[in-house]
Amino acid sequence: GNYTGPLRPQVHYSPPTGFMNDPNGMFYHNGVFHLYYQYNPTGLGPGNQHWGHATSKDGYTWENQAIALFPPNQRVFVYSGSAVVDVNNTSGFFPDQDNGVVVVFTFANYNEDGSTGPQTQAIAYSHDEGYTFQYYDGNPVINSTSSQFRDPKVIRYGDHWAMVVAYSQEFVVAIYTSPDLKEWTWASNFTNHGLLGAQYECPNIVKMPVRDRNGAVVDEKYVLTISLQPGAPLGGSVTEYFIGDFNGTHFTTVDAATRLTDFAKDNYAAQFFYGVEGNPINMGWASNWQYTGLVPTGNNEGWRSAMTLPRVNYLTKSAPRIGWTMVDEIYDPKSIMSVSPLKAVTDMGNGNVTVDYSDVESHALYIEANVTGLDVTKTSGLTTLNLTFTSAASGESLRSGFYFGGDSTFFVDRGQLRGFDNVYFTDKFSIADVYYDNPKAASWSIKAVIDRSMYEVFVGGGRHAGTVLLYPTQPLTVVDVAARDMPAGAQVSVAVWALNSTWA
Ligand code: FRU
Repeated sequence: GNYTGPLRPQVHYSPPTGFMNDPNGMFYHNGVFHLYYQYNPTGLGPGNQHWGHATSKDGYTWENQAIALFPPNQRVFVYSGSAVVDVNNTSGFFPDQDNGVVVVFTFANYNEDGSTGPQTQAIAYSHDEGYTFQYYDGNPVINSTSSQFRDPKVIRYGDHWAMVVAYSQEFVVAIYTSPDLKEWTWASNFTNHGLLGAQYECPNIVKMPVRDRNGAVVDEKYVLTISLQPGAPLGGSVTEYFIGDFNGTHFTTVDAATRLTDFAKDNYAAQFFYGVEGNPINMGWASNWQYTGLVPTGNNEGWRSAMTLPRVNYLTKSAPRIGWTMVDEIYDPKSIMSVSPLKAVTDMGNGNVTVDYSDVESHALYIEANVTGLDVTKTSGLTTLNLTFTSAASGESLRSGFYFGGDSTFFVDRGQLRGFDNVYFTDKFSIADVYYDNPKAASWSIKAVIDRSMYEVFVGGGRHAGTVLLYPTQPLTVVDVAARDMPAGAQVSVAVWALNSTWA
């Protein structure tokens, strides 16, 4: 793959060439993250689905591996699914090892006339820790006549395996159990919850710690995520999540709320890595079915889609407006890459901090900004903290920022960028914003990574996360942070780091 194109992310995973969608089969073992993904190696849109494969030790530096799963024939494609490490050889595939990997996925069958046939669940196993696989000769392990039955995610629960899988157009997440990954028994359905869209896809279930203000673990809950499309509030695809309890066969929610994993448009079908202890870690497909087949990286650079950065998750229950929240954090890129700041200002007042980063070869930055001492009684006037990225060559900008006071919000606006001349990027959906669950907080923080054609922001200690694709005609090269109408006593600090390309 050629990773030098001006739109090619430098600290995110994207495939060497061709089209990528959902993350699949993710597991963490012996210090290595394994990422598989829906992959069409022969086109720039979906179709001819394989499982691509990449590995990483730090979540930023990825190494492409050989394609892991090929379509068994021209009428069966390998759709999304998950992986487990079968340490105790429950499957019987691994008599001589404790690091056997089993992947569980959907066979999407097509009829001779090209129409959709049944979707069934199948498995494959690996004796070399996930680099090469053999299909099980007893496939499928869950048969069906439905053409909309897919995306199994398997976890370990007590003495058995548990699977969540979608009957997509019936809005059912079914739970199955198995002793050996081969024989599966239906246990329960989680039906018609939250936003439905046209279909449910890629359900995930994961155990998550609940942490108090000081970070101490005070409880444990399960999170069930469902991706749906089309039908997202901002258009296209989106992922929602439910917080609850899981007893190995049934999932029940703590409340009736529907929450979204990301406030912007470009994070879909995220999957949690199998084998991570403590805070679970996920990555999502940083795109949207509404326009993924049109984005300019295809014709210009021969690839389409990147993954989000890995996100470290836990739950809190402190936020007054919506109660429970899933927090997303990132591995600190400045310490992983041990880079020092290009600029750091601890008290900028009502001023600007501007950094020209045209000399930074990666054009990738990490930014932290913190504001303390906000006037929580203020009801009129606008206290703002804006982060704007501009192309010195073309004048285009990506705008983002905080409005503090009243119904406080954080917004991202990509509507002024002209590298993707498409209705979806110029109409009102070019703006994503989020209302704070606690608008009266006196302190706010942002951590952000800008990476050529991607912007990922973590607001309020990760309580709100936004993933935004962006397509300028010329590289963005100047970042400006502007504080306005800060009350006396407020303190705003900003620091900007240049990130090294992990693909160089
Ligand atoms: C979600 C999805 C899955 C399916 C896969 C096919 O993006 O539609 O439901 O398994 O993509 O590539």
